[in-house]
Amino acid sequence: MKYLIANWKAQITLAEIIEWTETFKDQLSQDTKLQKKLSDNEFKIIIAPPYPYILYVKNHFEQLPGIEIGAQNVSAYKEGKYTGEVTAKALKDITSYAIIGHSERREYFHESEEDIEKKISFCDQYNIAPILCIRNDTDTVYPESPILAFEPVEAIGTGENADVSYVLEMKKKIQLPEGSSYLYGGSADSTNINDYLDTGEIDGFLVGTASLDPREFYAMAREM
Ligand code: PGA
Repeated sequence: MKYLIANWKAQITLAEIIEWTETFKDQLSQDTKLQKKLSDNEFKIIIAPPYPYILYVKNHFEQLPGIEIGAQNVSAYKEGKYTGEVTAKALKDITSYAIIGHSERREYFHESEEDIEKKISFCDQYNIAPILCIRNDTDTVYPESPILAFEPVEAIGTGENADVSYVLEMKKKIQLPEGSSYLYGGSADSTNINDYLDTGEIDGFLVGTASLDPREFYAMAREM
């Protein structure tokens, strides 16, 4: 399965989300070709808003086939007195996907492999498909990951997307779980994704910066 995933990080407000949603829906409503690709399951769009806006975005896209909602993280705790945490158990009824092990979480929130392993197992337990991010071939790839995103740190948010050959090389080096999708992330945008797609080896993209602009994200969706 192919995926185009929007990771909005902590870079969007409710007002901006309302505008994003209207603009994206407006463009999609006029594009029967893209609607068909989505309803035929040729690829899926997953939008990962900040937690408080998940339900808003879900309610707006629920009726449209091929568009799903994801969380940007889940807690490494199952449940309990952990102020500020959002657990897989709490998310299970509202999201089907969660980004796990993003390099920003590993770096700024000191997430360890042990934390990531717990998160993956809670996702598994609560039927949330983890979108596991790895920075290189030393990060662990868990067999429960149906979606794996290779995101070299130097390519994230820099405007310098990684060479296609490097992304393909990494695919060979890692033990990709059978049947899982291999995504690339790091300054992916509508001008460069075809370089990856043309190889037939890359199943989609985890997109930060370019996903904040609904017109740009729509342009990416059209290339899928
Ligand atoms: P970027 O972010 O597209 O801004 O490089 C990608 C990511 O962090 O997932």
